[in-house]
Parts: sequence; C-alpha cells; structure tokens
Amino acid sequence: MTAPTTARKIIIDTDPGQDDAVALLLALASPEEIEVLGITCVAGNVPLSLTQKNARIICEVAGCADIKVFAGRDAPLSRALVTAEEVHGKTGLDGPDLFEPQMPLQDENGVDFIIQTLRAAPAKTITLCPLGPLSNIAAAFQAAPDIVEKVQEIVFMGGAYFEVGNITPAAEFNIYVDPEAADIVLKSGVQITMMPLDVTHKALTTRARIEALRDLNNRAGIFTAEMLDFFERFDMEKYGSEGGPLHDPCVIAYLIQPELFTGRHINVEIETQSDLTLGMTVADWWRVTDRSPNAMFIGDVDADGFFDLITERLARL
Ligand code: BDR
Ligand code: CA
Repeated sequence: MTAPTTARKIIIDTDPGQDDAVALLLALASPEEIEVLGITCVAGNVPLSLTQKNARIICEVAGCADIKVFAGRDAPLSRALVTAEEVHGKTGLDGPDLFEPQMPLQDENGVDFIIQTLRAAPAKTITLCPLGPLSNIAAAFQAAPDIVEKVQEIVFMGGAYFEVGNITPAAEFNIYVDPEAADIVLKSGVQITMMPLDVTHKALTTRARIEALRDLNNRAGIFTAEMLDFFERFDMEKYGSEGGPLHDPCVIAYLIQPELFTGRHINVEIETQSDLTLGMTVADWWRVTDRSPNAMFIGDVDADGFFDLITERLARL
C-alpha cells in the first residue's frame, strides 16, 4: 500500500510482543493516516534476535514485506536486559504457528537508521512511536543531539501513575527495563504523548472482541485472534480482569483517531536511583508541583471505539 502525501511519517520502535504486533498491523493497515518509514527493533519483551524476527513475521502477515526492519540495541543503555517471557511466551509471539520470515533484516543498525532518517528530514516532521524500552531512541539522541529538533512528536507506550506498576509494585515494564533511556527522552524537550497503564488497562480484550477479529477470516484477523488467545491469559489471572490489556496499539490508534483518548498535559519524571521504585513514572497528575509540563499523560480511552478501529483496519489487510 502506498501512503498519500498527507500521511504522518513515523518510525515504529518495537519489541514484539503480541500487543506490539497488533500495533504494527494497525499501522500497516492505515496508509491514509500513517506512513511507516521503518521499523526499528529493540531488546525488551524477548531478546533482540527474536524481536527483529517477530517484526518481520508481522510485516509478512500484513502483506507488507517491503517495509524496512532494522535491529537496534540488544541491551539497555547501562543495565542488564530484563525480559518478559512469562507474559509473551518463549518466542515473544506465542499463540499462532510461527514461520521463518523471508523478507530481509536491513544491514544498517536501527539507531543509525533513526539518526540518518531524522537528519535528512525538515524540522518537526517525523513522529517516533516507541512501543518498548526507550533504548534506541535515547541512544540516537545521545549520539546525535542535532536530530532532536527534527522530531514532530514522540508517542510512546510506557509508565503508570494510578495503576502503579506491572513489573514491580512501582514501575511499568518498558520504563523499568531502561529508566535512564526514559529519563533522556522525557527531558529531551520534544512534544511527548504517553500511553501509561492507566489508559492501556482500559483497553481490554474480551471474548467478543477477539472473536470479531477471528471472524474477519483473513490472515491478519486469525493470526491476531490466536496471539490474543495466548496473551490475555496472563493478565486475566493476575488482575482477575475479563481480558488482557492491548497496550501498544493505543499509540497507533492515537495517531489515527486522537479523539478516542483523553489526558492531561503534566510533568512526568523518571526514578533512576532508588532500588525500591526504579523506573517509576512520577506523574504530577494533580499539578501539585511547579515543575514544567513535559508530556501529555493519557488516562482514558473509548474502548469500544478503539476495538472497532482495530477490527475495521485489520479487515483491510
Ligand atoms: C508493555 O510491556 C510489554 O510487555 C508490552 O509489549 C508493552 O509494551 C506493557 O507494560
Ligand atoms: Ca511492547
């Protein structure tokens, strides 16, 4: 599918992950609103060797084998990698039958791709969409500070305030894995929109929502339903909820239909020192400090509208 010239130019930075995979499918199914310049992979839910492979599998499921997929960092900036196989399974994409992707992995490193792409672009024209730990984005900003002004917006999944943590009592996984990277991004001065657990825990898969995807009866719909059958069990057991939270697609849905979401423009700081609360996103939701707002912190979503959008778009693949 070719993108019209009005489509927003984005780079998706990701660690698939079933919910990352749905985000990729949603983006690739929406060329009128979104032009995917490339997909950069990062170590997160599973090691980099699997996330880059999973991203290519998803591009092929979407029928978009021409998308450029890059491998970026295989570890956080200054810590050992923490992964989440207990949530996503050994492959990161447990659920459907997986296959060896035929499309190539690009030779260029993902961090270099981010730098080169932004350098070649006019100011404020490229949106970065991180769906995993922020290691690639922070590494690019550190290596090439001149690219920061080229970013239109960063819309990322990460953090939590009212929902506190999912990997520790205080921290959400993406921020916990690389808190120094998150700190660099939040202090970058770029326009930022965050999708924390506060909103993603309202975007729950239900039986009816998964079956609607399976009933599309196309490759993307069936593959997604099989991924979500596996994915939802972890959070259903943990939270006693009726389904699993579809975290990462919130980022892409926001680009397509921002009116589905509401939030507050507030100050958000990252805890990088304390062992107890490492990776906590200290969000000044009640505006009790005079710290300057640096992020649109999303708190609510029209969940029916969100799943309708995903189902309608995946039907196009
Ligand atoms: C985030 O962590 C990962 O497990 C998911 O893919 C999502 O990006 C949720 O905390
Ligand atoms: Ca992710």
